[in-house]
Amino acid sequence: MDGSNAMWGGRFAEGPAAVMREINASIPFDKRLWKQDIAGSKAHVAMLGARGIVSAEDAATIAAGLDQVAAHYAANGVAEDLGLEDIHMQTEARLAEAIGPVAGRLHTARSRNDQVATDFRLWVRDAIDQVLAALGGFQAALLVRAEEHAASVMPGFTHLQSAQPVTLGHHLMAYHAMIARDVSRFADARVRMNRSPLGSAALAGTGFPIDRAMTARALGFDGPMTNSLDGVSDRDFALDYLVAATQCALHLSRLAEEFVLWASQPFGFVALSDQWSTGSSIMPQKRNPDAAELVRGHSGRIMGCMTALMVTMKGLPLAYSKDMQDDKPPVFEAHDLLALSIAAMTGMVKSATFRTERMRAVAEAGFATATDLADWLVREAGLPFREAHHVTGRAVKRAEDLGIALDALSIEDLKAIDARIDDRVYGVLSVDASVASRTSFGGTAPDNVRAAIRAARETSE
Ligand code: ARG
Repeated sequence: MDGSNAMWGGRFAEGPAAVMREINASIPFDKRLWKQDIAGSKAHVAMLGARGIVSAEDAATIAAGLDQVAAHYAANGVAEDLGLEDIHMQTEARLAEAIGPVAGRLHTARSRNDQVATDFRLWVRDAIDQVLAALGGFQAALLVRAEEHAASVMPGFTHLQSAQPVTLGHHLMAYHAMIARDVSRFADARVRMNRSPLGSAALAGTGFPIDRAMTARALGFDGPMTNSLDGVSDRDFALDYLVAATQCALHLSRLAEEFVLWASQPFGFVALSDQWSTGSSIMPQKRNPDAAELVRGHSGRIMGCMTALMVTMKGLPLAYSKDMQDDKPPVFEAHDLLALSIAAMTGMVKSATFRTERMRAVAEAGFATATDLADWLVREAGLPFREAHHVTGRAVKRAEDLGIALDALSIEDLKAIDARIDDRVYGVLSVDASVASRTSFGGTAPDNVRAAIRAARETSE
């Protein structure tokens, strides 16, 4: 469109500079809101008709016109006409093409400020629903693999040093617990955000006799927001989404990092399926865990999106400022990256081959049952834990010198270290005995892991 703007150009003699048009336009990204924009407008015009603010006939014409515009968008996409600035002006212009000047009645008792706040909330609400569904699928995949490996022994680490044996099922269930917290964060954000800003108008409300409860209900909100200034200027809902997305991405990144480590030759704990590996153009032997690396990488970008919007918002006075137009790209970007990351981790978890023999061998090699020996000395020989720790340290040293596992030390060797040790100690020195003994609530004993899986299945039903 040349010359002054059709939507607000009444007091302008000249049109904007080309760069002004470019910096001002949000249509290249906010066209993603078109479904929400149509839904918001339909709810608004139905209310205008019901309240007699526009005639019933005009309201019906506008509603039918909006359906036509929606059909046009669905078939052709949304044109990136920078002159029409954003999805709201685009839709109004399309509506005018479809039904003529009566289209101009749609914007009665409304502003783009409450319109965009409404559209964006609806979009983020849909995004949360998509994420919740995807996380449910990821959790289901974790449960299946955890059940399969409830008793598969692997080395548990602290400081990335072999610490105590655990089971792979227990390790996977730790991620299940993290994702359960993510699910609760997203669900909580959804509850908090589900209030309608529509009817806040530009910032102060309106003198038209609107019914905000009616539009809120029509759009599936729990009710209207209580303050019109807050209605147009609040972006907490987007930040809540980004904070939840960041924490979720952080969890996915930690599992991705473990897959990268585990898939490396020195670990050899996992073989990623062909579908989730890539080759090297120069080194024929390579099977690279690129998807896991990218999930790890994407988490950094998602955190960046959260930071971007927090910094954008932190200095803004009430109510709307155009800075807030920049709220959408980071949320869209974070959502796309998170959706890909969840799908990729789900695929990797489902299809990975866990090398349980190798995990067991490493658990056995790392003197990971040393704590069990110390605990046995406390329980069966009455030593104070500190002394038991010391005795066990000498046993580990002896096994290390001989190049054998702890449970391969002869009883003579053990008795030479401390005469109070007897044969019964072999009952706790194997990795299986070690994990089976960890029966405290939340511990790694296979029966506990199976109980945790059952409990998780029950809560998700
Ligand atoms: N494109 C704008 C945005 O995304 C819509 C709101 C514009 N409001 C205004 N007063 N210029 O934030």
